[in-house]
Amino acid sequence: MSLAIVPGSFDPMTLGHLEIIRRAASEYDEVVVAVMVNAEKEYLFSMEERVLIAEQTVRDLSNVRVISDTGLLIDLFDRLGADTVCKGWRNGADLAYEQTMAEWNRAHNPRFSTTLYQSESHFTSLSSTAVRNILQDAGSLDGLIHPNAMDEVEKKRHIIDGR
Ligand code: PNS
Repeated sequence: MSLAIVPGSFDPMTLGHLEIIRRAASEYDEVVVAVMVNAEKEYLFSMEERVLIAEQTVRDLSNVRVISDTGLLIDLFDRLGADTVCKGWRNGADLAYEQTMAEWNRAHNPRFSTTLYQSESHFTSLSSTAVRNILQDAGSLDGLIHPNAMDEVEKKRHIIDGR
């Protein structure tokens, strides 16, 4: 059984993330989406909300499950007996960041392996940051958030608006 981890902040999970997860799910027997903590980020959605939105987004993929983890990715990798970590990149800045992360993880765990997927071109402007901005500007999230997760993401708009 091959196993891939797709880790991320997922604040919140977008259709761009789903595209990467689908690709991993077609190449590996089992995919674990790991909602984790990036120490450099402040989150709009709580860990529980990020997990729920991720679960709703991947609901139709039978070989994908969602977990949360507040530890190091190199430790989760060993604990799950993973074969690789899959991440997507949209532009040069993403790629440079992901390569640095891959090198750091490999330097601290020789078993560690990273698989980088280039995102589909129409998803290059699709990001969690865009979603968070739209939530504050009354714009539509159609095409950015999966319909199954829309209600949960929209709840945050009401909180931001104070409605
Ligand atoms: O979606 P992101 O913010 O690019 O995901 C980054 C994430 C959460 C995968 C990364 O920060 C991570 O692996 N966090 C877990 C803690 C860890 O292993 N840190 C080591 C790198 S310094």
